[in-house]
Amino acid sequence: MTALAGRKREVRAAVLEARQRGERVGLVPTMGALHAGHVSLIRTAREENAFVVVSIFVNPTQFGPGEDFERYPRPLGDDLEICRQEGVDLVFAPTPEEMYPEGFATTVHVAGLTAKMCGAARRGHFDGVATVVAKLFGIVAPDAAYFGEKDAQQLAVIRRMAADLDLAPEIRACPLVRDADGLATSSRNRYLAPEERARALVLSRALAEARQALADGERDASRLARSVRRRIEEADGVALEYVAVADPDTLEDIQRVGRQVLVAVAATVGATRLIDNILVRNLGS
Ligand code: PAJ
Repeated sequence: MTALAGRKREVRAAVLEARQRGERVGLVPTMGALHAGHVSLIRTAREENAFVVVSIFVNPTQFGPGEDFERYPRPLGDDLEICRQEGVDLVFAPTPEEMYPEGFATTVHVAGLTAKMCGAARRGHFDGVATVVAKLFGIVAPDAAYFGEKDAQQLAVIRRMAADLDLAPEIRACPLVRDADGLATSSRNRYLAPEERARALVLSRALAEARQALADGERDASRLARSVRRRIEEADGVALEYVAVADPDTLEDIQRVGRQVLVAVAATVGATRLIDNILVRNLGS
């Protein structure tokens, strides 16, 4: 049975009961419009915890002016059905007023990591993310929280925040899920017209080529970045924002690829901003 809670105190009461039964609690934070990427996080949480909480909250503070906060999809009925099918115990779907009551005045800012990549184009975005995730940790107090490698920078920011603020939940990372055609699965993909979607495939293709180049022994980060950039810039109707070749934990740019590397891109197709990446760990030299 999947329970639905809109209030923080209902969540606290349900989690307290689970704890009294001796259950381990897992949290999957989402903004809803659930898809296969979210489901993979929920399934991992389901395997590792007796009590699984999914939060669904389109967090206003992580959207900038002119971004898609108003039109972000909110198919709550479909989302609840997916949560039911996946055996989620509790869905927390608060209102903005429940999360940000009158007088709310605190922001969590993770310095450094948030200045580059998506943070450079989306000022304040990661402050909104860090603050809402810290709040969700406070409300649910889970043993573990599940995040996707699709949002590699977000994951690095949350790990840094949890370590720096001594937040208890174990941060668990789940692999990026792709649609059958290779496009990274995203709630925002539903904005894409069919021809835009076809154009957007250049992102995953360019990254697949980078993965192959790494497998073939390429270790020069700027050469890797250049070939990804060139490939995307050649495509029609795709406006490249950045290509980063970085350490996945610190997000520091690297010159020479060592054992692990993140190659991340952001681009706009039509009016839709998309991100994608590959993460390679345990590379030989
Ligand atoms: P949202 O975009 O809904 O994503 C929720 C979680 O699902 C994130 O951890 C994200 O990385 C993961 N996810 C999304 N698409 C994925 C994919 N294709 N493969 C694997 N994981 C994927 O990210 C957010 O919401 C918000 O910023 C949030 C953390 C909930 C804070 O508001």
